[in-house]
Amino acid sequence: MESKQVVFITGSSTGFGRLFAETLSRQGHTVFATMRDPQGKNAKNAADLLALASRESLSLFTLECDVTSDASVELAVRSAIAQSGRIDVAINNAGYGIIGLAEAVTIEQARQIMDTNFMGCVRVNRAVLPHMRRHKRGLLMHISSGAGRVVIPAFSLYTASKFAMEALAETYRYELASQGIESVVVEPGAYQTPVFGNLVAAADQSRTDTYRLANHIPAKMSDLLSNTAGDPQEVADAVLRIVETPVGQKKLRYRVSQADLGVDEINATCERVQARLLDMFRLTAETSFVQRDAASAD
Ligand SMILES: NC(=O)c1ccc[n+]([C@@H]2O[C@H](COP(=O)([O-])OP(=O)(O)OC[C@H]3O[C@@H](n4cnc5c(N)ncnc54)[C@H](OP(=O)(O)O)[C@@H]3O)[C@@H](O)[C@H]2O)c1
Repeated sequence: MESKQVVFITGSSTGFGRLFAETLSRQGHTVFATMRDPQGKNAKNAADLLALASRESLSLFTLECDVTSDASVELAVRSAIAQSGRIDVAINNAGYGIIGLAEAVTIEQARQIMDTNFMGCVRVNRAVLPHMRRHKRGLLMHISSGAGRVVIPAFSLYTASKFAMEALAETYRYELASQGIESVVVEPGAYQTPVFGNLVAAADQSRTDTYRLANHIPAKMSDLLSNTAGDPQEVADAVLRIVETPVGQKKLRYRVSQADLGVDEINATCERVQARLLDMFRLTAETSFVQRDAASAD
């Protein structure tokens, strides 16, 4: 099996996605750094990545991909396959947050964030899986958050979208194991990326008039999180280590943060509970990882 991977990343214009693209391609992996509007609002970000690729002779390409559009995701995956013949790793990274009390989040805002943070993964995974299956291997990676395991007040819909992503990733983990395809979750803490500047405010503030003390929560959380944010290269280095971990040896969940808010404890408990449940349902064999031989005929 080739050790160098073909990696498809969503949301690569800034922040983690861009760092993943730089870090992975500098280690010799082929990277499709996808983003919205690379000819328009992200033209400078796309040009910077391509300039880096040319300067350092990296196998790093940009593609347009809006994860809220079925057609855009399909086209980006088809373009990457046409160019490289396969996608070994899909990194579901595109996402953003909404800050504010839950009741102030409008229905349209709720719909939009789920469409990006959760449905975006549904679309990307469905688009890449037939190609991974053909090659009898693949890795679905999900950039969740510590807020995919613990609840942070003032981030209701963001937290919900990441909890949903975690459930999807874990289900895929069990269902794809016998085909030799892996699914993992990365759970970063707070890191210094544009994410905090890109937070969308919950729009219907008229709903929060009666909340009194609870109205202090959004500002308090915003200050706390942005002031404790670490160096995002830590997350890119963790992603590189995961991508390079041999097939069949990857964990389901990786917490990456300077402080553990209890995520490891939740993950350890859930791992035990899930193993017991799969055993109780007599699904252990069906959900155990089997490494496929790419040369085999089945
Ligand atoms: N930084 C942290 O502290 C932290 C902690 C835990 C988890 N995370 C997660 O890490 C991921 C990356 O965030 P970041 O911190 O790197 O922040 P960021 O710099 O704001 O990056 C978010 C990326 O998502 C993209 N995006 C948003 N909507 C999209 C769509 N419809 N289609 C395609 N791309 C879209 C943005 O693209 P545009 O340029 O087009 O807007 C941008 O490239 C997110 O899922 C976030 O929830 C971040």
